[in-house]
Amino acid sequence: MIPSAKLTELESMQDFLIQKVDGLEDWRRVVAVRNQYMPDGPSTAERSMNYAASHPPHVNVARFLVSKDGQDLMYGVVEQAYWTPKESLYSCHLMSLPELDDVSAGIDEAERLAMGFGATEVSFWHRTDRPALGRALEERGYRETQRNTSAKIDLSTFDPQPWLEARDRVLATGYEVVTLLEYSQAHPTDWKRALWRMEMDIFRDVPLPEPFVEVGYEDWVRELEANEFKFEWQFFALWEGEPIGLTQLFPNFVDSTLFNTGLTGVLREHRRKGVAKALKAHAFSLAKSHGAQRVYLDNEENNPMYLLNLALGVQPDHDIVNSTKVLG
Ligand SMILES: CC(C)(COP(=O)(O)OP(=O)(O)OC[C@H]1O[C@@H](n2cnc3c(N)ncnc32)[C@H](O)[C@@H]1OP(=O)(O)O)[C@@H](O)C(=O)NCCC(=O)NCCS
Repeated sequence: MIPSAKLTELESMQDFLIQKVDGLEDWRRVVAVRNQYMPDGPSTAERSMNYAASHPPHVNVARFLVSKDGQDLMYGVVEQAYWTPKESLYSCHLMSLPELDDVSAGIDEAERLAMGFGATEVSFWHRTDRPALGRALEERGYRETQRNTSAKIDLSTFDPQPWLEARDRVLATGYEVVTLLEYSQAHPTDWKRALWRMEMDIFRDVPLPEPFVEVGYEDWVRELEANEFKFEWQFFALWEGEPIGLTQLFPNFVDSTLFNTGLTGVLREHRRKGVAKALKAHAFSLAKSHGAQRVYLDNEENNPMYLLNLALGVQPDHDIVNSTKVLG
C-alpha cells in the first residue's frame, strides 16, 4: 500500500501541465521564468523567440514550459549538441522559479524528449545559486564535467587609468583596436566571415566539456542576423590590418546599466603579448565612461582568462556547472 503522503505527491506530479513553446505569448511566459532564474542576463520575449527561430533547421530541438495551477514554474530546452562530435549527446537547460525546490518534473520531461530524439547521453548546465537542479541531477547519477566561475565587476570600483596605460603600451608595439562596427564599415562584404573565422578559431581553445566542432558559416550567420547587435561594443585587435583578437561586450536590451561579456580570444601566434589585456581594458573603460554599472561574465575555473578578469577586479559570484549522464 502506498502511504498517503506518497499518494498526494504522485497526484500532484500529475497536475503539472507541460506545453510546447510556440508563439510570442509563450515566449513572454518563458522570459518571465528565465529572467527570474538568471537576473544577470535578462532577455526580451522577442529576442528569445528570434534566437530560437534561428536554430539550425537540421538539428533536433524541443522547448517546453512546465506549469501548475496556472503558474509557470520551469522552462526547458533540449537540443542535439551539434557543436560537439557526439551525435547522440543532447544538451539541456532547465530554468525554474528561484524558490522552487523540486524540479524533477522538468528533468523527467527533458530526459523523455532527449530519449525520443535517440539520445544516449544527456548534459545539463546548472547554477550553484539555484541549487535545486544540481541536487536533483546528482541524485540521478549525473557527474560533473566542467565548472565555470560566474563573476561580476562593479564598474564604479574600476579605475581605467592603469589599464588604459597598459593598453597604450601594447598599441605602441603595432597592434590596433577597432570596433566591429568600424571594421564592418571598412569591410562591408567580408566582415561577417572574418568574425565567424575568429570565433571558430577562438572556440578551438576555449575549455568546453566536449571538443568543439566548427559551426557552419550559414548556420552562424542565421543566428547572427536573428537579432540586432550593438557592434560598437565588440572589438577586434588588428595586426597589419588583419583581425588577430576579439573581445565582445553585450549591452543588455532589458537593463541598459548591465553588460554581459561574450568571447575573448587571441590567435595562438599573438598570445602573451598583452593583447587580451588591451582589449578588455579598452572595452571595460569605454563601458564605464558610457554609464554601464555592472558587467557579468563566466570563465572555466582554470582558464588564464579568469586570472586576467580577477586582476581587472571581477568578484566571483556563483558557479555554472555542466553535469552529464549516459542514459541506461
Ligand atoms: C586567454 C587568452 C584570451 C589570453 O590572451 P593573451 O593575449 O595571451 O593574454 P595577455 O597577454 O593579455 O595576458 C593577460 C594576462 O592573462 C594571464 N594569462 C594569459 N595567458 C596565460 C597563460 N597561458 N598562463 C597563465 N596566465 C596567462 C596573465 O595574468 C596575463 O598577464 P601577464 O602577462 O601580465 O602575466 C588566450 O589564451 C586565448 O585566446 N585563449 C583561448 C580562448 C579562451 O579561452 N578565451 C577565454 C574564454 S572566453
